[in-house]
Amino acid sequence: MSFRYILFLLLCQIFLSCTDISDKPINNIIPLPVEINGFEKYSKIVSDLDFVKSDLIKSTYNPSLGEEEYQLTITEKEIDVFSKDIKGYQRAIATLTQIQDQNNGKLPICEIKDKPRFNYRGMHLDVARHFFSVGNIKEYIDYLHYYKFNTFHWHLTEDQGWRIEIKKYPKLQEIAAYRDETLIGHYNDEPHKYDGKKYGGYYTQDEVKEIVDYALNKGIEIIPEIEMPGHSLAALSAYPELGCTGGPYKAATEWGVFEDVYCPTEATFEFLQNVLDEVISLFPSKYIHIGGDECPKESWKNSDFCQELIKLENLKDEHGLQSYFISRIEKYINSKGKSIIGWDEILEGGLAPNATVMSWRGEAGGIAAANQDHNVIMTPNSFCYFDYYQSDRADEPLAIGGYLPVEKVYGWNPIPQDLPSEKHKYILGGQANVWSEYMPTFGNVQYMALNRMIALSEVLWSSNDSLRTFEKFKPRFKQHLKMWKNKGVNIANHLLDVKANVYNEEVRGSFLNFEGDNGVFVSYDGSKYKEIKKEIFVLESKGTYSFYKKTDQDKGKPVVIKFEPHLATTSKITMSNLPSDKYKGSGPRSMVNGVKGSDEKYGDTEWLGFHGKDCNLLIEFDTAVDISHLSFRFFNGPGQWIYLPSIIEIMPDNGKLITLDGFDNGSKVVNVSTSFEAEKVKSLKINIRNYGIIPDGKQGSGHPSWLFVDEITIK
Ligand code: ACM
Repeated sequence: MSFRYILFLLLCQIFLSCTDISDKPINNIIPLPVEINGFEKYSKIVSDLDFVKSDLIKSTYNPSLGEEEYQLTITEKEIDVFSKDIKGYQRAIATLTQIQDQNNGKLPICEIKDKPRFNYRGMHLDVARHFFSVGNIKEYIDYLHYYKFNTFHWHLTEDQGWRIEIKKYPKLQEIAAYRDETLIGHYNDEPHKYDGKKYGGYYTQDEVKEIVDYALNKGIEIIPEIEMPGHSLAALSAYPELGCTGGPYKAATEWGVFEDVYCPTEATFEFLQNVLDEVISLFPSKYIHIGGDECPKESWKNSDFCQELIKLENLKDEHGLQSYFISRIEKYINSKGKSIIGWDEILEGGLAPNATVMSWRGEAGGIAAANQDHNVIMTPNSFCYFDYYQSDRADEPLAIGGYLPVEKVYGWNPIPQDLPSEKHKYILGGQANVWSEYMPTFGNVQYMALNRMIALSEVLWSSNDSLRTFEKFKPRFKQHLKMWKNKGVNIANHLLDVKANVYNEEVRGSFLNFEGDNGVFVSYDGSKYKEIKKEIFVLESKGTYSFYKKTDQDKGKPVVIKFEPHLATTSKITMSNLPSDKYKGSGPRSMVNGVKGSDEKYGDTEWLGFHGKDCNLLIEFDTAVDISHLSFRFFNGPGQWIYLPSIIEIMPDNGKLITLDGFDNGSKVVNVSTSFEAEKVKSLKINIRNYGIIPDGKQGSGHPSWLFVDEITIK
């Protein structure tokens, strides 16, 4: 061997060992473990991707550890997992899988000690409004496993469809599993339109068993929900004798709450007990969820049978009857060795003795139940409803409403602030709910649920308060977003999107203010890309602008701004009534900034909402200008109490009063305009009169209406 060759080998050796040193293992584990040591260098273990099935893992029973607690050690030669149960083992496997995913299959030498903050960490999925395949459900369970959730709450029955095979009642499969058609668009859009297509499906008992086993093997318990006494139209369509009027009934074809519910007759209890027998035989879970939410009392008020029963049982009213209903079912379920969970309405009329309450209408139900020494699972809608919008972008897919960005989920504390500390022990944990009215495909479920589920996992699992901050979470989270994207999962990545709001000032006019981690943006106008290295971008000329955030990762969605400046964009504006705090856009000047609000929804940075008030403006120009045209945009949504104005009065300082009224309300966004011979104007008063009190027979009748205005264009 020549000297030069030996020198070459030596240099190779040095180079390789150098790369070894700089090749530090990556740790982006979510949820954050309690304690991590090591993670400085890689082990020699060459793991194939299916290490779980390989003999590399030594699993050791350690009875001194708590439920779901685990310790994971990776040495040069082997992987050791200590736990006292399958759940603890499975949490270690989730950690190991993440480490491997983050390190291209390599494993670092490390020691991890970890245990959960809360005992109940759930994700719910509504398979009734829309139905998802067995494969989809398994994929959902995989997400739960990956992020150390331990409970899948499977919402199986609804007004719109019954989704679990019950052998004793074949008409549940033949009739209740299907609806005639489905609402198109949002429930608040009027008039309602339907697709004309029969829709439905159900899981056979074999499929249910397959899914239950699949979840159990991953350390996840499935809690089935069989809704009663409300949300039961689909069941009534198959067995109309279970309703108070005898029917006929039809599975619902649109969303909402329906007056026809189970009648508390002996026939109904017999039916439900038989159904529950089959359900209990399929699900080994400790709990059966019996719903209990949103049960209108109309049909019970109108039923002689119910009124007699109220007297006979010495109940106070229909709420007492609901409590009687739930308590009877609870007694039956308890007799089978199981416990019930119900939504917080089960508090009304008196709580069933052993019930666990799922607090969804805020925290109040949870606080009330814990104060009565009942167990509680917190799912307050403002933090845990993953069917809510997660971005105020105009191009967001249609959702039920609300606004719940991932940052807000991360900042949630499942322990209500107003709960005395000695009652904290009743808060078992938390759960997010995924109602599928506006999620027709599993891709929609991925989009709405997965990113917020990742944030929630850390809230529910990680007990390290000082490290559990959104700023520290963000870099890890971004790596997870990237990974799921690479796997082809339709995960929402608003964190990677450029965020920009249009602001407007007198004289300066309209400008964009970018939020984000790095102020480097690429602007695109027409075909030319150009880099902007500043955080503010003044909109100077008319045009359509697209802004992308430049990151080292995936490119987020662009912000597209169509800018149409006009005379009021730089004028002085005085507004006498301010818009509601909830709907104030980017300030009063949003309405003249040359950028129009969404055609679909009003909760963005452009629309201004006035509750029961007029919108009165004084517009003043620097010098007198020629005006010959005014136009207005209004949101029109009677279903959401939003009405067009009754009249618009335009008063130029130097000219005649113009009044506009009788607007065509045939669309969601209504444009109103007027043109006239040019007038020299120095100032202009505009009064847009609120419609007033909502008329009888309409949603919200008797209440003040909302007026939503965006963009008053003056030319
Ligand atoms: C619910 O959202 N009705 C529990």
